[in-house]
Amino acid sequence: MRSQIFKTRITELFNIPHPILCGGLQWLADARYVAAVVNAGGMGFITCMSFPDDPEAFRREVQKCKDLTGGKPFGVSVPISRRLGANDRLNPYLDIIVDEGVRFIETSGDSPERLLPRLKAAGCIVIHKAPGIRYALSAQQLPVDAITVVSAEGGGHPGTLMVPQIIQGPLAADALRKPLALAGGMSTGRHLISALAMGADAILMGSRMVVAEEIWAHRAYKEYVVGIDENANRVVMKTFRNHHRVLDNETSRAVEQLELQGIKDFDHYQPHVDGSLARQAYESGNFNLGMIDMGPSGVFAREIKPVEAIIDEIIDEANSARERIGQICC
Ligand SMILES: Cc1cc2nc3c(=O)[nH]c(=O)nc-3n(C[C@H](O)[C@H](O)[C@H](O)COP(=O)(O)O)c2cc1C
Repeated sequence: MRSQIFKTRITELFNIPHPILCGGLQWLADARYVAAVVNAGGMGFITCMSFPDDPEAFRREVQKCKDLTGGKPFGVSVPISRRLGANDRLNPYLDIIVDEGVRFIETSGDSPERLLPRLKAAGCIVIHKAPGIRYALSAQQLPVDAITVVSAEGGGHPGTLMVPQIIQGPLAADALRKPLALAGGMSTGRHLISALAMGADAILMGSRMVVAEEIWAHRAYKEYVVGIDENANRVVMKTFRNHHRVLDNETSRAVEQLELQGIKDFDHYQPHVDGSLARQAYESGNFNLGMIDMGPSGVFAREIKPVEAIIDEIIDEANSARERIGQICC
């Protein structure tokens, strides 16, 4: 692990050497990956809904992560649904988070308001991921400890506002007073320096990390991602105001065609967008299957290597960028 070169409100809050967070990754962010992020000096979040209908499997993953980090704290990512009643399914997962003493929680999706009394009473530090400044400002009124603001470039669900990072980053830093991470396209050391220069306290990554050795997905999928360029992704499901930035593959092209034809009946989309297809893609390596979350920053995933090597590379590059700026200053 590289030694610490930045001290920000996020490194202090999470007690980590590097201002690098790795956000929830549906199906992929498990104990092995999250522990590797923590052991490399960042903070990662096990995605609890990667274990749907099986909270005890999630508990085992949390316990495994404790072993792999040697007791260092780590995070869990909790997706909050906009659908009425759908969040009841989170209850057994929250019980486990509290029972097992998980220290850090990333919430995403809808407002975390209803979950916060329980999480805060258990002493959790909560960072809410908001898809735009408007939502971040609402979250800031709640007792969350920090905020991630996602820009248009984010892989997965970047929200409907779709403001690019280069615009949104400085605006977010001006608008928010809580510790701030920027997500969406932030995946190199130069990005880290730019995020800090914009006024943020950390970057949060997703797409860049899917080729890490510790990610369990099939090697054929990772090898494909290593070869993609910045255009190999598209935003679909705008018809349903559920913008989804995914890998450009046969499935996302089929969904795009339905949208171009103006089809609004969800039944036509269901066979393509079922979340379990992405898991099958990761298992089989058939990257044409399902909606596979991916942003343009996947272009920086140029090599399959361990999480620690990725994070070291980001810190080294940030250091070089910092020196370069020092040299060009008059
Ligand atoms: C494969 C993949 C799966 C993701 N799954 C989730 C998820 O389950 N929950 C969540 O809050 N965010 C999820 N995200 C979003 C990331 O946590 C992060 O916000 C986003 O990837 C940041 O933008 P970037 O892709 O440009 O790095 C996912 C992203 C990717 C690439």
